[in-house]
Amino acid sequence: MVNDDAVKKEFSKKPAIAPEVWHDGEFIRWDDARVHVMSHVLHYGSSVFEGIRCYRTRRGPAVFRLREHMQRFLNSAKIYRMSHPWQLDELCDAVTGLVARSGLQQCYLRPIMFRSLDEANPAFGVNPFPNPMACYIGAWDWGKYLGEEAIEQGVDVCVSSWNRLTPNSMPAMAKAGANYMNSQLIKMEALVNGFAEGIALDDRGYVSEGSGENIFLVHEGKVVTPPLSSAILPGITRDSVIEICRALEIPVVESGLQRASLYVADELFFTGTAAEVTPIRSVDRIPVGEGRRGPFTERIQRLFFDITSGEREAPGDWLTFVNEQKSASAAAADRNGHGASAEAPARKAATQAPEGAARDAIHVTLTE
Ligand SMILES: Cc1ncc(COP(=O)(O)O)c(C=O)c1O
Repeated sequence: MVNDDAVKKEFSKKPAIAPEVWHDGEFIRWDDARVHVMSHVLHYGSSVFEGIRCYRTRRGPAVFRLREHMQRFLNSAKIYRMSHPWQLDELCDAVTGLVARSGLQQCYLRPIMFRSLDEANPAFGVNPFPNPMACYIGAWDWGKYLGEEAIEQGVDVCVSSWNRLTPNSMPAMAKAGANYMNSQLIKMEALVNGFAEGIALDDRGYVSEGSGENIFLVHEGKVVTPPLSSAILPGITRDSVIEICRALEIPVVESGLQRASLYVADELFFTGTAAEVTPIRSVDRIPVGEGRRGPFTERIQRLFFDITSGEREAPGDWLTFVNEQKSASAAAADRNGHGASAEAPARKAATQAPEGAARDAIHVTLTE
């Protein structure tokens, strides 16, 4: 049996947490953000969620690809027939408001929508429709997901004995809480066997993704990543890396990958909001290339971090600067003759999407 205590200790360092949580249009205290134990979500996994990073920049905290994340959030809810009143702009405003009020300069944001419990008219069956929806957003400062060293040194991973979800059982396209039972099996198996992460294959045996990351392979100067049909989450970092490769004039394709291609790749790396761009240095104890971060990964990684830190211009409108949203909304409120409310700052004007932004967000979610 593995040393569970060592594994737990490594992953239980307490992060800085935003003192408030956004709930259904209001900011509430962290301690008040609670659910009833008989809530539908706890029994049947009926939640959808997002993971978004807010980066420290010279212009203050900046949220990375906020609208695309929130569009995926709404898409996930739509797939699961969740009827709710929340709109894209309102959710984006909630995020910038939460970060501004938290005082955090960088953080990870976790919007979650789930089927709750109506205590006056409780319903306990699988049928989710009688249960009310709830929506919360929390934030905390999360360091490097796979460890500080991993960004430079790379991680040792395995191919999981667990397959990724099949598209007609649990849609991997939706970021649903229940999908992460599959992710947990992959992650736990990897950890107890001494690996940092596991790579799952799809039900046909093609490479799919990590438990919480998309995967990229570099071979003979070309970057390859599995398509949506390999049961992957349409990652927003994945989309960003595809755009970054185009900006760097590195050929990039979406293509099915055999497991064996992992062993003979020149370079491999993970992408994800939490993992960012993390090199993979071995798979099943077989070194990838030279057994360390390769030159393509390093170039892509460098541009990714330069963009997220606000030092280089992104290929698109990728950063939402929280402090500038605030002053823009206060200015809008002043122009209208009322001050910005401290309780629920009006940030609509400031987070208004440029023309075509929603279409771009859908492109992120649906492309093959
Ligand atoms: C299963 C899975 N795949 C891929 C990703 C990467 O997606 P993104 O880059 O949008 O964070 C994540 C992280 O959210 C994930 O949980």
